[in-house]
Amino acid sequence: MLVSAKEMLVKAKEGKYAVGQFNINNLEWTKAILSTAQELSSPVILGVSEGAGKYMCGYKTVVGMVNGMLEELSITVPVALHLDHGTYEGALKCIEAGFSSVMFDGSHYPIAENIEKTKTLVAICNSKGLSIEAEVGAIGGEEDGVIGNGECADPEECKMIADLGVTMLAAGIGNIHGKYPANWPGLSFDTLAAVSEKVGKMPLVLHGGTGIPEDMIKKAISLGVSKINVNTECQLAFQAATRAYIEAGKDLQGKGFDPRKLLAPGTEAIKATVKEKMQLFGSVGKA
Ligand code: 13P
Repeated sequence: MLVSAKEMLVKAKEGKYAVGQFNINNLEWTKAILSTAQELSSPVILGVSEGAGKYMCGYKTVVGMVNGMLEELSITVPVALHLDHGTYEGALKCIEAGFSSVMFDGSHYPIAENIEKTKTLVAICNSKGLSIEAEVGAIGGEEDGVIGNGECADPEECKMIADLGVTMLAAGIGNIHGKYPANWPGLSFDTLAAVSEKVGKMPLVLHGGTGIPEDMIKKAISLGVSKINVNTECQLAFQAATRAYIEAGKDLQGKGFDPRKLLAPGTEAIKATVKEKMQLFGSVGKA
């Protein structure tokens, strides 16, 4: 059964580790992440962007697929199904479809409007026992076609949003989605420490988990980050493994063209990436 992300994140914050959010795009991705979480006895959050939700036919299909897998793969670790960077309307649709968690990304609205919309969604999520993530300070890079600047969040604004009763808060600390440029100055730990001090026990979320050096990940966790989002790294691993399979001509041998065989190396590569991240984040054995 899907669970809200609240309990797993409160435990992670107390235990000084982070739960990984891995974004899904299709059945193979989902199966790879769920089976790895089960193998490592780790809690996990499946992220679904609005674009990926559309690609997979819609949110009801996603809920049906994930619930079916939880049962048929005998998954017993805590799993949350979470809308990633949702619009207000998208969040309402996911709640209706059976997601156990949503992110409302109101970071591009003026703070008063971000607060108003977040407040309404918090009330709905609370009444249904769902977790809700809010964002302050845009995360850099591309999110479903929108390019952000990677600004740092204002700790006062973070406190205002945290006080609305959200479950977890994504605060921009110079993090970027996708690949980091060579001249990236690194995470702003001063911002993270200031935000952490303002919001107390609230679990903090680090987006753009691909390509952040390990020491920075560990420092971020020590300063209150308890959820880390990874998407691009799984995509890159999938692409490289699929390319290697084709370039080796394996799709031309025997039944190598069978989609189940064609997708297998990429799926294994996702499993390896998820395993590596769960070990780095410290969530192994925490289910
Ligand atoms: P990356 O694409 O950098 O891994 O970030 C994922 C993310 O933050 C999704 O919200």
